[in-house]
Amino acid sequence: MPSLFLILTLAGLALSQDIITLPSQDNVTDYAPSLNVECPDFSTTSLIREFTPQNQSLHPSEVQYVEGRFNTTVQAAWNTWLGDGSALSYNLSAFQGHFPKVGLAIPGGGLRAAQFGAGCLSGLDARNDSAKAAGTGGLLQVASYMTGLSGGSWVTGSLFFNNWPTIKDLVYGDGQNLDGWKLDLPFVSPDGDDVFSEDNQYFYGSILWSVIAKADAGIDTSITDPWARAISYHFLNQTNRNNFFTNATAHGAGQLWSDIPNIPAFQQGITPFPLIVTDSRPAGSNLTTALSPLPIVYEISPFEFASFDPNLSAGMNLSYAGTHLTNGKADNGSACVKGFDQAGFMMGTSASLFNQIFDFAHNTLQGFSSSDSNTFIYILQRQLRSVRTRADDVANWPNPFHGLKPDTFEDSGSTWLELLDGASNGENIPYGPLFVKSRGLDVIVTIEGSADDPNNWPNGTGAIATASRLSTILLSSHQQFPPIPQTPADWVSTGVRQRATFFGCDPTQTPAEYPLVIYLPNSPPINGDNPVTNTGTFTLTYPLEHTQLFLDQVHFNTISGFTPNDNTPDPNFGLCLQCAAVDRARTKVTPVVARSSICSQCFQQYCYDPLHPPSQSELPNRKLVFVDPTPQGLTKVEGFLGANKFKLLGGLIGLVVFIALLIGGLIWWKKRRDREMQYNRVNNFHDDSDTTGLWPRQQRYSDYHAEAYELPNTQHVEPKFTEVKALDSPP
Ligand SMILES: *[C@@H]1O[C@H](CO)[C@@H](O)[C@H](O)[C@H]1NC(C)=O
Ligand SMILES: *[C@@H]1O[C@H](CO)[C@@H](O)[C@H](O)[C@H]1NC(C)=O
Ligand SMILES: *[C@@H]1O[C@H](CO)[C@@H](O)[C@H](O)[C@H]1NC(C)=O
Ligand SMILES: *[C@@H]1O[C@H](CO)[C@@H](O)[C@H](O)[C@H]1NC(C)=O
Ligand SMILES: *[C@@H]1O[C@H](CO)[C@@H](O)[C@H](O)[C@H]1NC(C)=O
Ligand SMILES: *[C@@H]1O[C@H](CO)[C@@H](O)[C@H](O)[C@H]1NC(C)=O
Ligand SMILES: *[C@@H]1O[C@H](CO)[C@@H](O)[C@H](O)[C@H]1NC(C)=O
Ligand SMILES: *[C@@H]1O[C@H](CO)[C@@H](O)[C@H](O)[C@H]1NC(C)=O
Ligand SMILES: *[C@@H]1O[C@H](CO)[C@@H](O)[C@H](O)[C@H]1NC(C)=O
Ligand SMILES: *[C@@H]1O[C@H](CO)[C@@H](O)[C@H](O)[C@H]1NC(C)=O
Ligand SMILES: *[C@@H]1O[C@H](CO)[C@@H](O)[C@H](O)[C@H]1NC(C)=O
Ligand SMILES: *[C@@H]1O[C@H](CO)[C@@H](O)[C@H](O)[C@H]1NC(C)=O
Repeated sequence: MPSLFLILTLAGLALSQDIITLPSQDNVTDYAPSLNVECPDFSTTSLIREFTPQNQSLHPSEVQYVEGRFNTTVQAAWNTWLGDGSALSYNLSAFQGHFPKVGLAIPGGGLRAAQFGAGCLSGLDARNDSAKAAGTGGLLQVASYMTGLSGGSWVTGSLFFNNWPTIKDLVYGDGQNLDGWKLDLPFVSPDGDDVFSEDNQYFYGSILWSVIAKADAGIDTSITDPWARAISYHFLNQTNRNNFFTNATAHGAGQLWSDIPNIPAFQQGITPFPLIVTDSRPAGSNLTTALSPLPIVYEISPFEFASFDPNLSAGMNLSYAGTHLTNGKADNGSACVKGFDQAGFMMGTSASLFNQIFDFAHNTLQGFSSSDSNTFIYILQRQLRSVRTRADDVANWPNPFHGLKPDTFEDSGSTWLELLDGASNGENIPYGPLFVKSRGLDVIVTIEGSADDPNNWPNGTGAIATASRLSTILLSSHQQFPPIPQTPADWVSTGVRQRATFFGCDPTQTPAEYPLVIYLPNSPPINGDNPVTNTGTFTLTYPLEHTQLFLDQVHFNTISGFTPNDNTPDPNFGLCLQCAAVDRARTKVTPVVARSSICSQCFQQYCYDPLHPPSQSELPNRKLVFVDPTPQGLTKVEGFLGANKFKLLGGLIGLVVFIALLIGGLIWWKKRRDREMQYNRVNNFHDDSDTTGLWPRQQRYSDYHAEAYELPNTQHVEPKFTEVKALDSPP
């Protein structure tokens, strides 16, 4: 890449001969987009699709994919799953191929949500023997859409960029091409607590190299970029335990979301159509709180970066994301951008929670003493405050919609969009795209791994937020939510958040006025075991045994349903799930087919009827408090800190250190640009003999703290690192 080379040379960094090798095809610097790409001819082609709130059209390629497989692959999958329908007392051929259109939604919540998503999908996957035997396996195969947000976007992206393997192969590796998620390697300090260890520094070095390559190309970066790169090491396919700390592969750099249509499984039509969700804060607002429901919510498909929010109602060709357009045109027809839609950056954008980390802290720091909490929040605050002025706490996207719809589109006047974690507006479940009316979904399956209550169980907060946004903001461009309990307290007391529940079973109109929502929440094991699945969002490391127990527990609950007042699986749950999935087919044919008696029985047990709400008391012996299944690593600090607290602490400290290092690196880099000719100054960072590396070696990062961070009172940072280390020794 000549431009990078030139800039590095200008910066006066010594490049030794052995570092200048031919660019390989597989390089962490492939994270840099290409600028100055020839644009399409704007007189005949548009990169923007505009539609009206009243008549929202889908991208033609999406329609082609979804409709193309609906009457072929999906129809066959229904027949495989339900057979001739006789087990449900239906005659399937009476439906004449009018099967419901199904979508799956996987919410946010970091690695907990990603693992919950994986475990639940394994219980719905026809390729999994026990799921198939239970009758639940098959729902995944009939799905037309799949949406993910934040941690949910990681499992979504991971499935696609590893060519749609089974969950077992995806998460644990298959001993061949797939290397697994490796969640036992800490997300932000993979070589362990010593962030200054050689391997950790190699890791940060590679990550920064990617990010700086992007910045050198001329696209503003932010803390979301290193985050995106760390995500790629686990969820994309080029990283294994042997190359983790090397530059031997690109570690996912260069893999583009817009390349999904080339992935073999997609080409064969065996995957649902993926969409991930990201929020925006009004550009220039500097908001650091949770968002109101008003700001635009975006979706990223393999074809488009778009919003079906009525006030925008437009989409942009994803291949050209990163291009500044005004009224749909680039200022310079030879200066378009490609390669901005890095798979890691798409997942990172959807998980860009940095601007409101304090709100997340509100959820997850409950185990802290107030002094611990204050200290760490103070450090985070200082770090983030220093970058916030540079809008470095959001995902920076050149605004392709600049100039469009000035009367309604809030960011019409802005040249950049400030994108955030898809849960920032309170909608932790990526429901929005699935309720878009033109997509016509009949059934929406919620793979609900949200952590709402103090024990990290869901309590309806996300669904309530979406129901309200649909009815107050999205209105007639979207379907409405079926009736649900009105408050989190009602979700708790009715027990619907602790068992499979179907919402919207009995619409009053034909066609139905809302989709049927199948709700599969993260909940305590039905058999009364201790739960291992309600971990904190900031738990960023999982020993392998924990991941295994986690997935097995979720899988078991997913295929089991519940038996009222008992702790045993419901042998009919598979049938009941089939009843729910296929129910809307009955009303698509004339005359309408009556609901069968076995399905009516199922609906009595699993449907939420607002007039006769169920009760939590039907769910006995559910243990709510997390029990760490792998406490070995903690024995030495027991008595010093509670187990859960330590885990949260470890995750949070990792995050703090990570952010500190990366922000340090970024700021240092910016300063380097400012002083590009001041070689001596830069060389001051090289306080040992390492003058040959592109970047100063490890120990230098601590110097950046002292010299280059521009943070007020940086001395508050250093003592805390020391204190962290102290936790490792016995009290
Ligand atoms: C990656 O690309 C950079 C810049 O083009 C080059 O200097 C470096 O040698 C490449 N690394 C590998 C491992 O190919
Ligand atoms: C348009 O971009 C190309 C490629 O970067 C550049 O060579 C050219 O000078 C630019 N034209 C204008 C008018 O800025
Ligand atoms: C909606 O858009 C479609 C496709 O662009 C067009 O065929 C149809 O006439 C439009 N309908 C209305 C009511 O505007
Ligand atoms: C799929 O089949 C249904 C029922 O036969 C039909 O109404 C619909 O038009 C078909 N869709 C496509 C895209 O072929
Ligand atoms: C199912 O319906 C089809 C078409 O309506 C009919 O031909 C067939 O005989 C029915 N099968 C049974 C078992 O009733
Ligand atoms: C099915 O899923 C369970 C739970 O994740 C797993 O233990 C089992 O190995 C899976 N079976 C297959 C065939 O993948
Ligand atoms: C990794 O993913 C990329 C992009 O999807 C693909 O081209 C490549 O073949 C994959 N590699 C392996 C080993 O699966
Ligand atoms: C990979 O490259 C980056 C940038 O030159 C460097 O900081 C890092 O140490 C390298 N990793 C290894 C293992 O050499
Ligand atoms: C946001 O921060 C920037 C940079 O500090 C400042 O110029 C701008 O006025 C701030 N905007 C608001 C609405 O406070
Ligand atoms: C994006 O634009 C290019 C150039 O016009 C075109 O070839 C491609 O099909 C477009 N992609 C999508 C998804 O619209
Ligand atoms: C949409 O635009 C209208 C007109 O500017 C405005 O009144 C309304 O508040 C906007 N809606 C949202 C959700 O921002
Ligand atoms: C539900 O979750 C919210 C956070 O999303 C929390 O503030 C509230 O206390 C919880 N309420 C109940 C009843 O669990």
